[in-house]
Amino acid sequence: MPARRNTESKNEIFAIVSEKSINAKTQRCEEGKEVQDNKPSRPCVENKTVSRWIRPQIRELSAYPVPDAGGFIKLDAMENPYHWPQDKIEQWLALLRNAELNRYPDPHARRLSDRLREVMSVPADAAMLLGNGSDEIIQMIVMAVSGAGRSVLSVEPGFVMYRMIADFCNMDYIGVPLREDFSLDSEAVLAAIEQHQPAVVFLAYPNNPTGNLFNKTDMLRIIAAAPGVVVVDEAYHAFADDSFMPLLADHENLLLMRTVSKMGLAGLRLGMLAGAPQWLEQFDKVRLPYNINILTQLSAEFALQHAAMLDAQTQQIKQDRARLYTQMQALAGLTIFPSQANFILFRVPAGKAGSVFDELKTGGVLIKNMDKAGPLLRDCLRVTVGTAEENAVFLQTLAKINL
Ligand SMILES: Cc1ncc(COP(=O)(O)O)c(C=O)c1O
Repeated sequence: MPARRNTESKNEIFAIVSEKSINAKTQRCEEGKEVQDNKPSRPCVENKTVSRWIRPQIRELSAYPVPDAGGFIKLDAMENPYHWPQDKIEQWLALLRNAELNRYPDPHARRLSDRLREVMSVPADAAMLLGNGSDEIIQMIVMAVSGAGRSVLSVEPGFVMYRMIADFCNMDYIGVPLREDFSLDSEAVLAAIEQHQPAVVFLAYPNNPTGNLFNKTDMLRIIAAAPGVVVVDEAYHAFADDSFMPLLADHENLLLMRTVSKMGLAGLRLGMLAGAPQWLEQFDKVRLPYNINILTQLSAEFALQHAAMLDAQTQQIKQDRARLYTQMQALAGLTIFPSQANFILFRVPAGKAGSVFDELKTGGVLIKNMDKAGPLLRDCLRVTVGTAEENAVFLQTLAKINL
């Protein structure tokens, strides 16, 4: 399968924004006024003015869809399901009481950075850059390398923000398909690198949404061949058995990205990039000042002082992943893919993904339907590992569905 550029099947990944509502609005616009609930409101912006100024790549996109999860067992977003014991919550709240909300935060979040370096074993000679989630780091990197004729390369299926942010920044996106078993097609990636000379390559390790670790030797060949930077995105590192961190010093174009989101701190929005200072000092120039707010700095620093508590939760999730995997394997009609992350991808019989998703939802369980997210994910769904009780409800509901 050839590598896909970003103009193709972009919207497969995203929920289709209701065309009806857009058409209805356009009609109202043509009448010169925005009318809501039969009440005239302010004059609307003419569509052709919007089309004139908003780039086609942006107009073609749908905003990142986040479904309303209220009332559901939420197993759709790879979050850690656990909070902290009450005494830790009290200590954390006491700390926040003294936060100087009237002042801008430390622009470099130095204390937090030091703590992250220690907890994540970042080598002493590597520089670090923090982002408002690793999403923001992806954005900083792509913004800094963007330019006419330049490209971002990743694999498909992969993390959707690589492609979205390439679009935001007006760059070409090259998506090289994985093999059917979700392994890295290193020959295809190397050929695409040779052809497109991408400014940046993103490889998630483990990969989202497939959950597997790519072959390390293949990854190293890609790092050696890439003309620009290779970002190894270790968002799910906490659940995996391997890391590129010890190799950081050996490759001048290797950058390593982590997030605290999957470690139980998704609400804080904090990601980290480590690598050669020569690269990071350039990316730092496009970072918005004070991007890590004071509540995040204090809270993350506090949480990382209790890293053992976070580790215990991670270990629990890993154990529960193993149990859930075995239990799902015992259900007829499913193909379960091995995972080194905190989620499991599975395939249902042809044409059934939508009804399985809906029936789980009716049973109160929200997971992610990946069926439309590209050809390799046909009939696939992804479930996040929750608490033992949540996993049990998911399994019972799934087991009742007629496949
Ligand atoms: C592979 C990968 N990278 C990065 C992210 C973004 O993480 P953050 O919450 O730090 O923005 C995600 C989120 O799901 C992810 O799956």
